[in-house]
Amino acid sequence: MKPIYQQIWKLAKPYYKKGRPMDIDHIEWMMKDALLVCKKENLDDTLLLPLVILHDVGYAEVPKDNPYNLDLRKAHMKAGKKIAKEILEKVNYPKDKIKTISYYVSVHDNWALGNNKIYQKDVILGTFTDLDFIWMTTKKGFPAISKILKKNKKEMVQYIENNEKLVERPFATKTVKELFQKYLQQRKKAL
Ligand SMILES: [Fe+2]
Ligand SMILES: [Fe+2]
Repeated sequence: MKPIYQQIWKLAKPYYKKGRPMDIDHIEWMMKDALLVCKKENLDDTLLLPLVILHDVGYAEVPKDNPYNLDLRKAHMKAGKKIAKEILEKVNYPKDKIKTISYYVSVHDNWALGNNKIYQKDVILGTFTDLDFIWMTTKKGFPAISKILKKNKKEMVQYIENNEKLVERPFATKTVKELFQKYLQQRKKAL
């Protein structure tokens, strides 16, 4: 991984330590798969990687409660935008990219507020939301999200397979779709 991403991660980690218990694992998994997708689909990793690393830093500054609560969702995006900007300025990231990435952070969960269109118009945001969704099919993400949603393994698989995301926000690229199918198969095998 490029040193700049390690540097951003190092500055972001203390925030994640104050955020949701699963988030260090969440981001470490996501960085790895985001890089893979960037390579295979020829996407701009200088935007996607910082977005992935910084998207949930805002949970450090919101009350500890169910993260699916809408007010918390809004609050973590707002706080996250500010923190993301500060961290990117600290590492002297290009100014135009700081603007784009902090905007992405400020809208990254807007689907929860009924806005699905932004993800279809922008392949970076689309790929981001695909990966964020796929997290709950991964080895560590599956039990973490099951716990938050209070679902057993079988209910969790049903929740994923019938998720409106698959209809409202179709996968942005073939590579993420294949990743999703691969992880889901693994979880179903372990039922
Ligand atoms: Fe989020
Ligand atoms: Fe996330």
